[in-house]
Amino acid sequence: MSESIYGLKRTHMCTELSARNIGEKVTVMGWVHKSRNLGGVIFVSLRDRTGLLQVTFYSEQDEELFKKAETLKSEFVIAVVGTVAGRTPENINPKMKTGEIEVIGEELRVLNSAETPPIYIEEDLDANEAIRLKYRYLDLRRPDMQRNLLLRHRVAKIARDYFDEQGFVEIETPMLTKSTPEGARDYLVPSRVHPGKFYALPQSPQLFKQLLMVSGYDRYFQIAKCFRDEDLRADRQPEFTQIDIEMSFVDVDDVLTVNEGFIKRVFKEALGVDVETPFVRMSYKEAMERYGSDKPDIRFGLELVNLSDIAENCGFKVFSDAVKSGGSVRAINAKGCGAKFSRREIDSLADVVKTYRAKGLAWIAVEENGLKSPITKFLSEDEVKAILERMKAEPGDLICFVADRNDIVCTSLGQLRLEIARRLNILDNKVFKFLWVTEFPLFEYDEEEKRWVAMHHPFTSPMDEDIPKLDTNPGEVRAKAYDIILNGVELGGGSIRIHSQELQSKMFSLIGFTKEQAWERFGFLLEAFKYGTPPHGGMAYGLDRLIMLMAGASSIRDVIAFPKVQNASCLMTNAPDYVDEKQLEELHINIKTEVES
Ligand code: AMO
Ligand code: AMP
Repeated sequence: MSESIYGLKRTHMCTELSARNIGEKVTVMGWVHKSRNLGGVIFVSLRDRTGLLQVTFYSEQDEELFKKAETLKSEFVIAVVGTVAGRTPENINPKMKTGEIEVIGEELRVLNSAETPPIYIEEDLDANEAIRLKYRYLDLRRPDMQRNLLLRHRVAKIARDYFDEQGFVEIETPMLTKSTPEGARDYLVPSRVHPGKFYALPQSPQLFKQLLMVSGYDRYFQIAKCFRDEDLRADRQPEFTQIDIEMSFVDVDDVLTVNEGFIKRVFKEALGVDVETPFVRMSYKEAMERYGSDKPDIRFGLELVNLSDIAENCGFKVFSDAVKSGGSVRAINAKGCGAKFSRREIDSLADVVKTYRAKGLAWIAVEENGLKSPITKFLSEDEVKAILERMKAEPGDLICFVADRNDIVCTSLGQLRLEIARRLNILDNKVFKFLWVTEFPLFEYDEEEKRWVAMHHPFTSPMDEDIPKLDTNPGEVRAKAYDIILNGVELGGGSIRIHSQELQSKMFSLIGFTKEQAWERFGFLLEAFKYGTPPHGGMAYGLDRLIMLMAGASSIRDVIAFPKVQNASCLMTNAPDYVDEKQLEELHINIKTEVES
């Protein structure tokens, strides 16, 4: 039943029409969002990318046309020629952008019919995500998804404009390449021409962008696809997009300043939100101590407070033992929660810290006329008083304590802090709180492999004043590395790189690479560094995460047109999939395990 479009030319997108067009003859095209037949009059709400427009057909005006309009069903694709008319005051719909007008249909072409779609094409659809993803092309018709993808387009455009104005040059780097140093598992692509050899899809353009600095491009920029075979979460996909930059002749402050300018610009232009710069800068150490996280959400307080000095000699052995064996006792004051939370709710808070390896949660509920607590009986009056004073406790408050190894105390209380904020419903996703976390440790200790590994990547420069400690105390060496955090999400990260060969060799030997191993993996970069390398540094944003937070979405899947699910498959295309025997043969591949087909 499809008809030709020939002879018709679209004059307006649906929401381009307004009361100013009343009396004009127009041609509009789109999908039938809904069609209501009231007998004698049919109201069709016509939808295109811009929104909805009401098209009306009257039987008394044109019987044949009316009959045709009666056949319209949801998601039919139509073209309508008609005249814009004002609606009578009682029919004006203030919720619709085009609510003051309608188009009185004079000609109708059904360009395509449609089967009843398996999901509703509507805002805030409450449908199973698996079905949405199987029929993603329908899901993407929904206005919230369209808004997200249009926002994504705007942000990419603003990024290109901004970095161009700042002297950055967009340069593409290869997708078929060698393993990069981000440290996740690679996606490999077998080579047909080189039996037994594989390309790796890039985990990031890291090495290439550093080479471009060696080549003298001074400032590089790219919106780059990256691939990492990791366990997926709400903010992780196997392929994702970075806004990736690198700059020559810079130190930490220069990189941070350029990027603050970008964030300010993008939030103003895309959302109309004023972001204050410079952002708060906080060392990794301070972030861990105050928020129990290297990506603190600073939209709210509930900060961690160290009570180790008070606890060290107290009568509660759990506390004093923790401090004496080198750990700590810290607490957060959950303001007002003593009065709000039931005993059961408090017990469920203990389950939260236990998932982060804490052995228990001690607490004091402060009431108008006294304290409720399982631990005050072990403490002296003075100790309780000192704790309450330090915690700035007031009636109604709930003080939550963890005693353990330092890292366990901080991490578990950091997670408890987030859980309490969620329960108190104080996380507003329209508030945007940025900060830089700086001075990350250069190394972390890998307990399994019993060796130091680079926390960011092995090209990250140590802080100048910590270089002497590389030999004596590598665990204390801080890096010129920084992460940009928005509302508790790691939005991006980067570092100033090592540009001295001597320091680079030392770095490799500290993380247990022999010279040969280093050359085998990164030889082309080390070779390049011999020929005049400028001091350089940069960073990369997760574009998907940025859009997710700007859009107020809860998963990056909602801002990616065709994402993968938890097990890294695509429900729409069924990728990954088996391939022909012939293809495997060409690639010199034998499948070892029996697979069900
Ligand atoms: P990093 O590994 O920290 O740094 O990555 C930068 C940012 O990319 C985003 N990101 C992801 N987003 C979605 N899914 C994933 N699986 C995923 N992995 C990372 C995060 C992260 O902050 N080459 C360095 C940057 C540099 O040093 O310049 C790099 O890739 O938002
Ligand atoms: P107990 O005397 O073992 O019953 O412990 C008294 C309280 O201390 C209980 O509320 C426990 O949950 C809590 N608790 C136990 N271990 C720890 C710990 N490591 N840190 C904080 N509180 C703890």
